[in-house]
Amino acid sequence: MKRPLIVVLNGPNLNMLGLRQPEIYGEATLDDVEQLCLQAAERLDVTIDFRQTNGEGELVSWVQECRGRASGIVINPAAYGHTSVALLDALLAVELPVIEVHMSNIHRREAFRHHTYVSQAARGVICGLGIRGYAHALQAVADMIEDEG
Ligand code: DQA
Repeated sequence: MKRPLIVVLNGPNLNMLGLRQPEIYGEATLDDVEQLCLQAAERLDVTIDFRQTNGEGELVSWVQECRGRASGIVINPAAYGHTSVALLDALLAVELPVIEVHMSNIHRREAFRHHTYVSQAARGVICGLGIRGYAHALQAVADMIEDEG
């Protein structure tokens, strides 16, 4: 049987992981995150398509492309989670299971990070678990795909 495809999307500034505020985000790079996701995907018997962009429009287009192509989405929208109604609308339009990830615990940080538009389209939100949050998110989406056949 063909493995289900889960698209793992990363928003702005996540290409700077490892360099960017390591006291908050840790020292792992985005390549390390991709490796962790690939290992989780092997264990879960799913295929992943792992991407990062700094562009809001590109992120919206990538979400739209998931419709009919992917079985689920893991997204760290980064700052666009807090600002983008366009991203929320795209996630609602694709009608797929979505898990939102933030490496830091956004609720322990500035008030403007406490709300995310993306959460309104997400089945679940994982935050504060560092890069391991991605592996938990993949597990959750894989479970949903299996349960919902
Ligand atoms: C983040 C949290 C966001 O508030 C921030 O804008 C990021 C990263 C995280 O993974 O903790 O860029 O999404």
